[in-house]
Amino acid sequence: MRWSGVTRGDNRYFQRKKVTIVGSGNVGATAAFLAAQKELGDIVLLDVVPGVPQGKALDMFEASPIQGYNVNITGTQLYADTADSDVVVITAGIARKPGMSRDDLLNTNVNIIRDVTRQIVEHSPNCILVLVTNPLDAMVYTAQQVSGFPRSRIIGMAGVLDSARMRSFIASALDVSINEVSAFVLGGHGDTMVPLTRYATVAGIPLSELMSADDIQAICQRTAAGGAEIVQLLKTGSAYYAPGAAVVAMLEAILKDQNRVLPCAAHLEGEYGINGYFMGVPCKLGGGGMEGVIELDLNEEERRGLDASLQAVQALVGDVDRILGAAS
Ligand code: NAI
Ligand code: 2OP
Repeated sequence: MRWSGVTRGDNRYFQRKKVTIVGSGNVGATAAFLAAQKELGDIVLLDVVPGVPQGKALDMFEASPIQGYNVNITGTQLYADTADSDVVVITAGIARKPGMSRDDLLNTNVNIIRDVTRQIVEHSPNCILVLVTNPLDAMVYTAQQVSGFPRSRIIGMAGVLDSARMRSFIASALDVSINEVSAFVLGGHGDTMVPLTRYATVAGIPLSELMSADDIQAICQRTAAGGAEIVQLLKTGSAYYAPGAAVVAMLEAILKDQNRVLPCAAHLEGEYGINGYFMGVPCKLGGGGMEGVIELDLNEEERRGLDASLQAVQALVGDVDRILGAAS
């Protein structure tokens, strides 16, 4: 028996989207597995450790007959294999250990992100970049400085994760389905993030109608410390299931042109009175990447919270500028 018929050739129309994930550690591999299950595209896992991305990619590919997904998953150390990716997720770097703040990661990760970004831009100059590595607001800034990409094509993942944590804590406290809970978080991905409780709802009902101010405050504090809570439990690394899922929600919004409104770290160009920094804000995510920022009128307390968060991000960005400046 012989197959006959059309060949796909090089026609991009017939080809799947291509997603590269740099860093095939906990977050990268989890995101790859979830993205494969949603058939978002062919996936390339890249890591500096020989064999690890290859082994994880093969393992995931061997799961495909069981899970029923039709995508290719490959692992590599070579940036040439990532060429012409539609979206590139960067998770490369070191993760937080107990007692370490996200900011402690800065020095090591700036250098990693600078090198990774240069190579990605060389091989996929038109891709959309999604940064995950911490400290997130500083790493996405680093990648933007190195890539020169417009803000539509460079976004940081944090708000989807932080908001998911807040939503799950609310659902658990009220014993309601997570599907009913809507909530989001503004600002940087650090202790100064700003959970916007005024906009949190359960089936459209304002949270303040359902919970006491003290209980809401406790949820906000747990949300802001959500990453540290997992680090304390795991002891050898940081969270990866919820972060991986958050990455994939962003990938799906972009690759399926969903125009979802998700909180992302976006380069602000005057919105919220902020210029030149990445901050977590509600964004429209679609086929063009970050297609717009939604600007909300903040009350005094929220404004104070966002200003404090901005100061923390500005301090990190000052350090990044010094490190990048010293290296150039
Ligand atoms: P991990 O240690 O499991 O994986 C990191 C991977 O990056 C390792 O496999 C390592 O070999 C690789 N890597 C290191 N240098 C590289 C380079 N130059 N090129 C390619 N690969 C390189 O860490 P995990 O848990 O996956 O976390 C990754 C990063 O994401 C950390 O910085 C962590 O803090 C951050 N993170 C950020 C979140 C967010 O909300 N933005 C949430 C969770 C983690
Ligand atoms: C988290 O929030 C470590 O940033 C990471 O879990």
